[in-house]
Amino acid sequence: MDRAAELVFYVNGRKVIEKNVDPETMLLPYLRKKLRLTGTKYGCGGGGCGACTVMISRYNPVTKRIRHYPANACLMPICSVYGAAVTTVEGIGSTRTRIHPVQERIARCHGTQCGFCTPGMVMSIYTLLRNHPDPTLDQLTDALGGNLCRCTGYRPIIDACKTFCNTSGCCQSKENGVCCLNQGINGFPELEEGNKTSSKLFSEEEFLPLDPTQELIFPPELMIMAEKQPPRTRVFAGERMTWISPVTLKELLEAKAKYPQAPVIMGNTSIGPEVKFKGVFHPVIISPDRIEELNVVNSANNGLTLGAGLSLAQMKDTLAAVVLKLPEERTQTYRALLKQLGTLAGAQIRNMASLGGHIMSRHVDSDLNPLLAVGGCTLNLLSKEGARQIPVNEQFLRKCPSADLKPEEILISVNIPYSRKWEFVSAFRQAQRQQNALAIVNSGMRVFFGEGDGIIRELSISYGGIGPTTICAQNSCQKLIGRPWNEEMLDAACRLVLDEVSLPSSAPGGKVEFKRTLIISFLFKFYLEVLRLLRRMDPVHYPSLADKHESALEDFHPRHRQSALKYQKVDPKQPPQDPVGHPIMHLSGIKHATGEAIYCDDMPAMDGELFLAFVTSSRAHAKIVSIDVSEALSLPGVVDVLAEEHLQGVFCVGQLVCAVIADSEIQARRAAKRVKIVYQDLEPVILTIEEAIQHKSFFEPERKLEYGNVDEAFKVVDHIVEGEIHLGGQEHFYMETQSMLAVPKGEDQEMDVYVSTQYPKGIQDIVASVLKLPANKVMCHVKRVGGAFGGKAFKTGVMAAITAFAANKHGRAVRCILERGEDMLITAGRHPYLGKYKAGFMKDGRILALDMEHYGNGGASLDESLLVLEMGLLKLDNAYKFPNLRCRGWACRTNLPSNTALRGFGFPQAGLITEACITDVAAKCGLSPEKVRMINMYKEIDQTHYKQEINAKNLIQCWRECMAMSSYSLRKAAVEKFNLENSWKKKGLAMVPVKFPIGLGSRAAGQAAALVHIYLDGSVLVTHGGIEMGQGVHTKMIQVASRELRMPLSNVHLRGTSTETVPNANVSGGSVVADLNGLAVKDACQTLLKRLEPIISKNPRGTWKDWAQAAFDESISLSATGYFRGYESNMNWETGEGHPFEYFVYGAACSEVEIDCLTGAHKNIRTDIVMDVGCSINPALDIGQIEGAFIQGMGLYTIEELNYSPQGVLYTRGPDQYKIPTICDIPTEFHVSFLPPSQDSNTLYSSKGLGESGVFLGCSVFFAIHDAVSAARQERGLRGPLKLNSPLTPEKIRMACEDKFTKMIPRDKPGSYVPWNIPI
Ligand SMILES: Cc1cc2nc3c(=O)[nH]c(=O)nc-3n(C[C@H](O)[C@H](O)[C@H](O)COP(=O)(O)OP(=O)(O)OC[C@H]3O[C@@H](n4cnc5c(N)ncnc54)[C@H](O)[C@@H]3O)c2cc1C
Ligand code: FES
Ligand code: FES
Repeated sequence: MDRAAELVFYVNGRKVIEKNVDPETMLLPYLRKKLRLTGTKYGCGGGGCGACTVMISRYNPVTKRIRHYPANACLMPICSVYGAAVTTVEGIGSTRTRIHPVQERIARCHGTQCGFCTPGMVMSIYTLLRNHPDPTLDQLTDALGGNLCRCTGYRPIIDACKTFCNTSGCCQSKENGVCCLNQGINGFPELEEGNKTSSKLFSEEEFLPLDPTQELIFPPELMIMAEKQPPRTRVFAGERMTWISPVTLKELLEAKAKYPQAPVIMGNTSIGPEVKFKGVFHPVIISPDRIEELNVVNSANNGLTLGAGLSLAQMKDTLAAVVLKLPEERTQTYRALLKQLGTLAGAQIRNMASLGGHIMSRHVDSDLNPLLAVGGCTLNLLSKEGARQIPVNEQFLRKCPSADLKPEEILISVNIPYSRKWEFVSAFRQAQRQQNALAIVNSGMRVFFGEGDGIIRELSISYGGIGPTTICAQNSCQKLIGRPWNEEMLDAACRLVLDEVSLPSSAPGGKVEFKRTLIISFLFKFYLEVLRLLRRMDPVHYPSLADKHESALEDFHPRHRQSALKYQKVDPKQPPQDPVGHPIMHLSGIKHATGEAIYCDDMPAMDGELFLAFVTSSRAHAKIVSIDVSEALSLPGVVDVLAEEHLQGVFCVGQLVCAVIADSEIQARRAAKRVKIVYQDLEPVILTIEEAIQHKSFFEPERKLEYGNVDEAFKVVDHIVEGEIHLGGQEHFYMETQSMLAVPKGEDQEMDVYVSTQYPKGIQDIVASVLKLPANKVMCHVKRVGGAFGGKAFKTGVMAAITAFAANKHGRAVRCILERGEDMLITAGRHPYLGKYKAGFMKDGRILALDMEHYGNGGASLDESLLVLEMGLLKLDNAYKFPNLRCRGWACRTNLPSNTALRGFGFPQAGLITEACITDVAAKCGLSPEKVRMINMYKEIDQTHYKQEINAKNLIQCWRECMAMSSYSLRKAAVEKFNLENSWKKKGLAMVPVKFPIGLGSRAAGQAAALVHIYLDGSVLVTHGGIEMGQGVHTKMIQVASRELRMPLSNVHLRGTSTETVPNANVSGGSVVADLNGLAVKDACQTLLKRLEPIISKNPRGTWKDWAQAAFDESISLSATGYFRGYESNMNWETGEGHPFEYFVYGAACSEVEIDCLTGAHKNIRTDIVMDVGCSINPALDIGQIEGAFIQGMGLYTIEELNYSPQGVLYTRGPDQYKIPTICDIPTEFHVSFLPPSQDSNTLYSSKGLGESGVFLGCSVFFAIHDAVSAARQERGLRGPLKLNSPLTPEKIRMACEDKFTKMIPRDKPGSYVPWNIPI
């Protein structure tokens, strides 16, 4: 044994020798903290977000081949990189040397906004290109399946990918003999470039070519090391953990015999999350990654043998090669495995995770184990005692000791038999999201018939997601043997399986009835699939499937992604050097892509820096009896525990109770777990809106608006509908978690706070108040924010104040970075809503009276709940004139973490309630919802319900253009035809308008300031009060300065935002950051220009350097502040009248979806958006905002689901449980078009703020699904109102498409059990 070995590996071509390695360390913190390579980001720590993606390269001395693969550095134990070459984003290119084409293209194609996900994206694309220099678009999008982006909506990232495909996105299947690129996917023309419009946001001609010969080579030293390494076990011993890496199988077996309880770590994707999130600890780890015997691939007469050490990606490649070679009847199991491997996790996890680790973990939601069980697979085991084989069966999967490995045994390989003639194997899964999401239920099914007789000889059915592990319906299968494959058999099978595979009402994970339905829906699919195959083999004896049933088997068409954009070119008369109106790349785009952009936690550690970790309440409503910090304080490295003296009680789970300060993050977190709090539970615990209503638990005051005479109007209408809709909340899921660093300056009690916030002034105020200092002693600095969406405004303040308090108390810098789970728990998000409506309308769809009630779940403290509610009431009219309207709203006080601002600020909830009401009205009138929308839309000149005048001309134009662009009528007819022909798949089409009011409700809230300096070399520095959080405000500000000062963009610089340069800046939010700060920058520039004009006119051919020097010589100030007072804005809630908004953003979106009625899955086929953006300052940024917001909205209304326990504990605390859209969720076809420019003299160059409005348009997908579900229900004879709440998850879709299967399942009587989760 080679004790206390040195860890040797390479990072970016440089050798790293680590003498004192701690095996508990993961590669990510090592890169970030030890090697100071901060380009690789922390987003979740659990392999779920891809922000930490790096490329790992390994040389295999046996095959003499180098394998490059993407990996999540957050789950990679540092010891496992021995002998590997790690490439990080810094290693492939930099602005100091040469940027890599991947970095350049993602930036120039506008694929970065906040840029926090970008290094991970870059590394995923880069790694793919290392292996496939000429990839298909499918390979590229597949490679990005494990990378989340919360900002861009992915379309521009796909655009960047396309530039690496020779086929540039062509699907290669020439429908009607025409290339897809030339026909538009639905056969309709794409948006064309006109004289005045453009569809291009970048020019490919300028891109650096991809030259694979330029890449870093694999370090020869590592090859030599691998070839000649002494055959000795390596041991790395840390403080608490020992890592043993044997080199031969014999040594591996010896190690396992010596440490039978030690896990055998391969990919660490199962053990890693357990250690990190569940506190599991292993003192000894065995890592067999050098054992060749674990990587075998053998084919024998009876099947394939795959080494347990093969990664799932290698397994996928192997199986893909085998199915190409062998006849279909022999590869049934392999095909089914391939299907599952296609959607299992993301590329990084598939490349890290091993087959052996996967099987041995026996996760409840394993996608492969159900298939390995039905496929008759066996496991080859070895120990010092010898070899043996065991089957993958229910007993093994349940970990029955008699069927399991002995502690000293190792899984060497897996035999997967070939299938036989008349044998069929299928795989099924349904998850919250199509890809990279653990299955809610999955299944493997196999049947074997007697030769040509159609009689079941063998049948195996396994399910995942149901019990504590994979379960097999053995008894049911046994009873069905000997039966023919017909409908009676199916019916019996469903009943038997439902009986055998029962699921208790309170089962963990919830969705109990959905799961029960899936169990038999999958069975039905299998039945049909086998029937189709039988018919193919013997058309004489087997009937063909009814056409209508065919659709149960079709997968959603994996069509190639298309996008088309249209925006207005600048006026040809505009001077060429004026950048306003051009699609200028994000100022930090390249730095995002090279990893050089610095975020808060990328700042180097200060001397003596401490780390702060919070302890939060575990009770929803309780008195604090005692807090015992003694054990925490006694741990090494712990400096202090801060607890608020007067804290008597807690009002939600996740409330901050105390904070532990220690020398390192690990020490602080370990100690935080040792703080002991004794609670005494208090009543009542109010969690849901309904409970708040019952207890009258509201934040005051109730808000109300009334317009016209509602009661009279109800008397004259033809019909009245009443309904309600519930909307779940939403997590911000900014990629950079809450981060702050407080640095005491050591002099005059000054404190600098570096923080990821939208509101530096707010931080300054609260820190100053906590430290009892005047504001001029506290400065807050923000370079950039890795996404915020409203969650880094008020939430950050309290945490920053505690961090600064700790820093002040100890006179040392203190850093606090929230983990993803903490962040989700503590900061909460969008308000869940309950909307009740009563609408009175005429037969033709005109709504004459509307009475609305809004209830927002505010959580435990007020935060912005009242403001959100008010905005909801003011904006609920959306695009419609309701001549008589009464709306009332209540912000509910509950025992949940306090909800706060989130992009759209009340509008996404209020708008959806109104649209749901319109959909009900349409159903009652027998009209399409679009017709009813059009009938009730504002006329050109009109008045809102708070009596503000509007001109809705552009709204109507957006609507008409969207109708035309989406070919709404033609496609509506096509959808109806499709629905007539298909029973189990339905399509839906919906179009919604948006009128998004822009304004902050008061003039003071809209004021903004800027500071512009000209230096003597002629360069310019701009500062303003806005925060760069991805929306590109700094880029726009530089465009403004460049236009005003008539100087090139490259001459203007912007360093960040600070309370030192611009005091008293308002919070950055509400879509107006560029609007307001741009007017201030413009003002400052104009002041300077005015001062300098005499000098410029004296020397018109001079340079800025000449003019600056001349001004200096003449004692003319070269620095100016700029100011904008804010728009006039008022609202009187007493009279219900006012002018709260400055202008309106108009738009419309049309979406088409296809749903699978049996599983609840949906696919967004196409979305067309038309927006009125005024005169865009930067079309690339504006399109980015619209698309990003749309995808965020789509997530809100369809898949993003927060789950709370009945005790108010948030379950969904990471990307593994909470699903935001990934690259596979975006519309297959995505069109965005701007209306021709319209002039508005009040705004900055007649531009409009677009940050939020797009979120609401995501509900076009919600209503398209609604349309599809209605079609399914109609076909099944279900009439009457359809009540669908948001988000419209697979569960809700499936359960609404009622059929014989939903009728078959056992139902639980509400109130008869304690559910796993509650809708809040
Ligand atoms: C973000 C994320 C997404 C995921 N998504 C999916 C998904 O969609 N579908 C799905 O099915 N799964 C999914 N998984 C789970 C994943 O498939 C498993 O974590 C993985 O396969 C485990 O393999 P590993 O090599 O990393 O195991 P490790 O964590 O290295 O080891 C796991 C266990 O296996 C044991 N073990 C490993 N090899 C051997 C051996 N040769 N002999 C004896 N014991 C051994 C170890 O002792 C340990 O107990 C996901 C995981 C993550 C982190
Ligand atoms: S930080 Fe590693 S995957 Fe999220
Ligand atoms: S740019 Fe992708 S998360 Fe912000």
